[in-house]
Amino acid sequence: MSTLSLRMTCGAETSACAAEAAARRGPKTRKRALPMDASLVKDSEIGEEIGRDVGNPARELMRVMTLRFFRYIHSRSKPYRITVGGKAFIVNPGVFTPSFYNIVSTKASELLAMNLRVQIGARVLDLGTGTGIQGIFASDRAARVVGTDINPDAVKCAARNIELNNVTNMEVRTGDLFAPVKGERFDLIVWLPPAFFVTPRTVAERAFACDRNGEVLARFCREATGYLSPDGMIQFSCVDRTRQFILHHLALNGFRFEQIKKVRRLPMETCTQFLAWPR
Ligand SMILES: C[S@@+](CC[C@H](N)C(=O)[O-])C[C@H]1O[C@@H](n2cnc3c(N)ncnc32)[C@H](O)[C@@H]1O
Repeated sequence: MSTLSLRMTCGAETSACAAEAAARRGPKTRKRALPMDASLVKDSEIGEEIGRDVGNPARELMRVMTLRFFRYIHSRSKPYRITVGGKAFIVNPGVFTPSFYNIVSTKASELLAMNLRVQIGARVLDLGTGTGIQGIFASDRAARVVGTDINPDAVKCAARNIELNNVTNMEVRTGDLFAPVKGERFDLIVWLPPAFFVTPRTVAERAFACDRNGEVLARFCREATGYLSPDGMIQFSCVDRTRQFILHHLALNGFRFEQIKKVRRLPMETCTQFLAWPR
């Protein structure tokens, strides 16, 4: 029987016809099992993201345009001033901006700064501090904040913003991931990781480029436990591209996690915030 005649005979598929049609379509493709502990994640999309992006030209176009925009703003040569949540920040050339001239915002940075889960008196590590925004907001409740960044210009910029905001309990250090805080433990590690799987051409591009294989993301997940206090947590934001990768690597390294916020930031992209803690 041809497909057409089968449809005509069945009309709206009855259960017998549905079974016949299903048999003709072949076995259903099984949903990919999540290679991670997703028990606390209420987002049913996790695990589908990578597959869904493949061959989606609109998403790919958006990704390329966003990447170009990031490359452009990280090559600019003039500092400018922005305001986020009532606090002022200078953005130096080559430093990740929470909001380009207060006109175009990544949302991820602001979202994280406005929703920090800092216990009063906590020791906080703001890893990849950029302008210092997360650490400066955390300093309102924390006992002590250390901001670190691989980009020396970011560290200078954060130091300037610490002064500008009269913050007295935050210091900044230059270095790769946890190297500047060897031997120290924190109650909260705040992290807004780079979000494009491309190779950085300059140190400034490390703000958004995490390398083709996401090496820096995987390394963070491997090393973080060694810098957390017994009840310590990581709070981080990520975009669709990096979410599955980061959650997978956190799970591989014995973390549990919980999604605490999700916003749409571009027509085809969401930004999600998580808390993660070792099991
Ligand atoms: C997406 S930006 C976030 C900046 C800032 N936290 C914010 O919310 O605006 C990522 C930051 O991580 C820094 N970074 C990238 N790779 C790093 C590494 N291996 N070690 C330390 N910092 C790194 C970048 O220089 C950049 O400042």
